[in-house]
Amino acid sequence: MPVRDLQSRAHVLLAGASSGIGLAATRLLLQDERVTRLHAVARRAGESEALAELRAQHPDRVCLHSVDLCDPKAVDQLVGEVGAVSPTLDLLFNTCGLLHADGMAPEKSLAQLRLDALQRSFAINAFAPILLVQALLPLLPAKAPAVIATLSARVGSIGDNALGGWYSYRAAKAAQNQLMRTLAVELKRSHPRACVLQLHPGTVETPLSAPFSARVPAGKLFSPEHSAALLLQRIAEASPADTGRFLGYDGSEIPW
Ligand SMILES: NC(=O)c1ccc[n+]([C@@H]2O[C@H](COP(=O)([O-])OP(=O)(O)OC[C@H]3O[C@@H](n4cnc5c(N)ncnc54)[C@H](OP(=O)(O)O)[C@@H]3O)[C@@H](O)[C@H]2O)c1
Repeated sequence: MPVRDLQSRAHVLLAGASSGIGLAATRLLLQDERVTRLHAVARRAGESEALAELRAQHPDRVCLHSVDLCDPKAVDQLVGEVGAVSPTLDLLFNTCGLLHADGMAPEKSLAQLRLDALQRSFAINAFAPILLVQALLPLLPAKAPAVIATLSARVGSIGDNALGGWYSYRAAKAAQNQLMRTLAVELKRSHPRACVLQLHPGTVETPLSAPFSARVPAGKLFSPEHSAALLLQRIAEASPADTGRFLGYDGSEIPW
């Protein structure tokens, strides 16, 4: 079962489903017949050939949503669309993230820091994950098991930061961690069977890591499929006692 102790079939929302780890996780989740409905979200979900293929293979199980998670109106509309087919969501897996884009690269030094890059990174890496949970909260079961898992990054760890650089991305992931940790504390009271997890996927061969992957030592660069399988294992074994933890793909604790 994708969520531990779940007694019913699972309804899942996977944000970031069009690429990299999110696409690999989408494929793996659809191999599990107990996943009744999978809501696949990305800005251009409707244009993704890979998602169109999955939808054609599983027309009754896959719903595609083209949504920019940095747009609050689009997120509200998403909640309506999801709620119309899924009475509750058992797993919310957010794999969205941004490290570089046109005109935006991770900073090597303070001199390269720009306000617009900070804002862009915080919008998707920090603000979008918590605002997505806020919007979807009415669909999260208050008394049944549920998991809210978000992909963070080891470079977002303050305690582990010995190398420096990458100011915007590091800071935005650290902010994401704090926002989700705060959520975990609140949900302990209102949703005692829920588990909020922050996960580091490893260094994974995706468009996000492509400009930097040449420097990764052999054997340390995971395929999206390998990383997604390990992350789904972490999610499936998580219990409410694990809520608020920041874990690596192998289950090891990452310092905040
Ligand atoms: N790859 C690594 O080595 C690595 C290492 C540590 C942490 N991570 C984290 O792991 C997660 C997944 O990374 P990845 O490597 O799989 O990245 P990726 O291949 O670039 O995929 C990112 C996904 O996020 C979606 N997305 C981006 N902005 C969005 C927005 N505003 N609204 C909705 N969807 C949006 C993209 O879809 P559209 O473009 O269609 O919107 C895409 O599906 C990220 O959080 C990343 O920070 C990755």
